[in-house]
Amino acid sequence: MAKPVSLFVCTECGAQTRQFFGRCSSCGSWNTLVEQAAAPPADQRRRRPVAAPDAPAAAPQPRRSEPIAAVGERPLQRLGSGYGELDRVLGGGLVPGSLVLLGGDPGIGKSTLLLQSAQSMAARTSVLYVSAEESAQQVKLRWRRLAEADPAGPAAVAAADLQLLSETDLELVLQELESLRPAVAIIDSIQALHDAELSSAPGSVAQVRECAAALARIAKRQHTALLLVGHVTKEGVLAGPKVLEHLVDAVLTFEGDRFASHRLLRAVKNRFGATHELGVFEMRDRGLAEVTNPSELFLGGDEPSSGTATIVACEGTRPLVVELQALVSTTSYASPRRSATGIPVNRLHQILAVLEKHMGLPLSRFDCYLAVAGGLEVEEPAADLGVAAAVVASYRDLTLPPGTVLIGELGLGGQLRPVSQLELRLGEAARLGFTRAVVPRGSGLGPVAAGLGLQLLEAATIAQALVAALGVNPADDG
Ligand code: TYD
Ligand code: MG
Repeated sequence: MAKPVSLFVCTECGAQTRQFFGRCSSCGSWNTLVEQAAAPPADQRRRRPVAAPDAPAAAPQPRRSEPIAAVGERPLQRLGSGYGELDRVLGGGLVPGSLVLLGGDPGIGKSTLLLQSAQSMAARTSVLYVSAEESAQQVKLRWRRLAEADPAGPAAVAAADLQLLSETDLELVLQELESLRPAVAIIDSIQALHDAELSSAPGSVAQVRECAAALARIAKRQHTALLLVGHVTKEGVLAGPKVLEHLVDAVLTFEGDRFASHRLLRAVKNRFGATHELGVFEMRDRGLAEVTNPSELFLGGDEPSSGTATIVACEGTRPLVVELQALVSTTSYASPRRSATGIPVNRLHQILAVLEKHMGLPLSRFDCYLAVAGGLEVEEPAADLGVAAAVVASYRDLTLPPGTVLIGELGLGGQLRPVSQLELRLGEAARLGFTRAVVPRGSGLGPVAAGLGLQLLEAATIAQALVAALGVNPADDG
């Protein structure tokens, strides 16, 4: 018998080598290589049903290339998850035979989201829910709680084709998948599964990779859509990120403040749709409810106060009206404090520098804090003008006229740059009752804005924009 070969696997990135190194040559981490006896992949180890000996062996069809123009196109059929917010992030629903990874912090609501959609999909197709973390009793209890609130009614809930398997052994999960051949299978979670043939501990990179790969092969073969739950590690990455992200068709993340009730679902990778689409849910006592009008969540709603400004951010194709708050106060430190929640702090530094240089505001002698309402992360530079307006309003103790939104990117020279999807943003602002929009010059959207009942104030520079927004020149000593 051949001597088993040892493999060394990096617990950080999943890279494999035949030789031991102190430092992983792939990701550069130290002391992360662990030894693992090489074993054939789990689904290939198992005995396949053998054909009768005298039956002619079915010759495998060689796959031939063909002209790309002649390749048949099949429209993607998608299975609705029962939740429009989840479907949007998936790109219009779950694609049969696809592999989706759902990541998020423990306790954020991944199991709840998937159990709810499993229940809804099971009314139309067959679904297998594998719980590797909780007992069947625990899942049943949650299911009952969710089922009571199910809009489809008790009869539909009882009739749904939802199978539950509480199991951590990969082999048994694979067997069940093969015998049931469900249209959809949910594995909650991939880190809790383990392959008994591998020596490493459950949740290790080697285990996660092997389990996911074996599940993926079977799912692709029998056209089962597979949803994998993945936990996020302390560093904020999906465990075994490199391994799993390459293997799957889509990576969704579920995030939100554990102290607030709303949850944001995003696609960070999607082979069947756009990324950066946003789905919004709210955690209630009977499961997750969809928030179809999220702008209302991110608006302060209080009386206008100095230091607040409203922007229209775009998450994928979805415009969101969001309130920003700034606090500017005289510093008592040698170097002033800057802190930003919800926008990159470097962006704040840059905007402060532009205001100092081009508006003559001595902001380097002031501390500056900035926060985005509702815990949203706004990365796009279209928020720049709103940030600048909030900072200047706080510095000058001014209140922006109510009903104003600010949209525009700030150049280092103090010029206002155009932003994408302006028409969409204006539409959302108008829908929520805003009446004035300060935007970069040359949008050509004057008539559109007028039709929406919005006064469009176009500006070429930050100075012009602030004068238009505030009605006074903030650079004048007040
Ligand atoms: P869960 O789906 O178990 O999170 P994850 O799978 O991401 O670890 O959600 C757990 C939290 O959600 C828990 O703190 C309780 C809360 N929750 C509700 O508030 N309402 C509900 O109806 C359910 C099912 C859970
Ligand atoms: Mg869970």
